[in-house]
Formats: sequence, structure tokens, C-alpha cells
Amino acid sequence: MASFVRPAHPWPTEALWQALQAEWPGITVEVAAELDSTNETLLTRARAGDRTACLLVAEHQRQGRGRQGRRWISAPGDSLTFSVGVPYAPRQWAGLSLAVGVAVAEALAPEVQIKWPNDLWCVGRAPAGEGRKLGGILIETVGTAPATRQAVVGIGLNVRSPDPGPAGWPDPRNRPAGLEELLPGIDAAEVLRRVAPAVVRALREFEREGFPAFRARFEARDLLRGHTVQTTEPEAPEGVALGVDDEGALLVHTAAGVRTVAVGEVSVRPC
Ligand code: BTN
Repeated sequence: MASFVRPAHPWPTEALWQALQAEWPGITVEVAAELDSTNETLLTRARAGDRTACLLVAEHQRQGRGRQGRRWISAPGDSLTFSVGVPYAPRQWAGLSLAVGVAVAEALAPEVQIKWPNDLWCVGRAPAGEGRKLGGILIETVGTAPATRQAVVGIGLNVRSPDPGPAGWPDPRNRPAGLEELLPGIDAAEVLRRVAPAVVRALREFEREGFPAFRARFEARDLLRGHTVQTTEPEAPEGVALGVDDEGALLVHTAAGVRTVAVGEVSVRPC
């Protein structure tokens, strides 16, 4: 089905395929040298009726996309970009990005934490209260009836901090992190080998059990808990993050009491 340019680097596709069969029988593994976006490729296939399970990796994305219509920029070799597409029918979808974040963080290092709702941050080597974004998760779906929906879970992880070009980062404190700071010598193929089975396993577990099965594990990796945050939810413009509820909604202690934030953006108020 795929007509991609052959990948430039060796990837552990066979070993990965073997490992993934135990988690999701029949899932296929594909690696492309270059395409627009792994999410878009799998969504296009799903719109054309493909409801098979697939792990698709791209060494380079020409049009990688992030949340809120942002671009996801990554350089070949310096990052891992992949998507998992599966036919999916969880009882409820809320909290799925947190469950995926938990799986990714646990597969990597204790210093990887989750910034609600979709970001992976590196905190361990940073001064208290600070951290830098390491990666992100973008979940998109196709289909109308819950039973026939196809979920596409896209994950981008920096292996090395991206090069900002000659101008540098406008604010060096916002310089993204790279996994090699935590795991010296690691490359994108090894990151994939660690993370992909964990993500596929988490998708199965979430479909069966929902977010409550991940809540305690999320709490152990919750970057925001105890921090003063600002949110895009008008009912909770500012307050202290208290963790999440059983649906993965953020709990914020505001001046008006505890409020839940189900969707939106959150920033940590600088200390
Ligand atoms: C975010 O932090 O905004 C989410 C970024 C998600 C990026 C990944 S890279 C693989 C997949 N394909 C895409 O086009 N985007 C996701």
C-alpha cells in the first residue's frame, strides 16, 4: 500500500513487528524516509476506508503538525516522529492523551513528565519549577459511529534539541529538550523500540479500562501539580493545579473554588 522513499537508516522493523503482535495482533510496521505527516497519511487511509492497525514512522516530515494548528518541526536523525493508527472503540475518549503520555514517559526515563494535556517535558536536570518540552502527542480520529472510528495517535520526540538557526531561541528558557540529555547516545530507532510497544499496550489497556487505570501513574508524572497555572478556560483563568479527575480533566484551585478544565491550553506562571 505504501509507496514511500526507502528509509536512509536501519530501523528495527522486524523486531518491532514481532513485539507489537503480542500487543495488537495484525498490526503492520512501516518506515518512510519522507512524507508530509504520519498523522495525515494514516488519516487519509482511514478516510478511504482502511481500518487496519499500523505503526508508521517517518524519518522526515515535510508538514508535521502539532496541536492547535501549530507546525511540528523536526530534523531527520534529531527526532522521532511516528503515528499509530488503530480501529478504536473505548467507552470514553477523555484522558486518552494522558494515558499515551504515561506510556511514553514510563518507557523513557524518570525525568520525563507530562504537562497536561499532551506534552512531554524533561524536568529532572532542570532547576526546580522549570523544565523544557521534549515532545508532544496529537490524537486525531476518523469516522462517525464509535464502533468504526479510527484513532491516529501521533507522537513527536526530540532526540536532540532542535537547532533554532542563526537567530537562536527568542527565550533560551524555552529551548526544547532532547532525550540524549537524559539518555546519552540514544538514537531515534532505540527510542522507537522502547516507546512503540508501550504505546500500543496502553491503547489496548485504555480501550478496556479507560483513564482510571492510568490515573495513579499519571500522578507520578504530573508536571503541573502544585504549580500556579494559567489556563484558557474562562472559569479557571488562574489557580493551583491539583491533579486530574477520573476523566483526565485538570483540577485547578482558583479563587472561586476548585474548577475542572476538560480542554484547552495551560501555562505555568513563572516563579
Ligand atoms: C504538539 O505538541 O503540538 C503535538 C506534536 C505532535 C507531533 C507528531 S510527529 C508525528 C505525528 N505526525 C504529525 O504530523 N504530528 C504528530
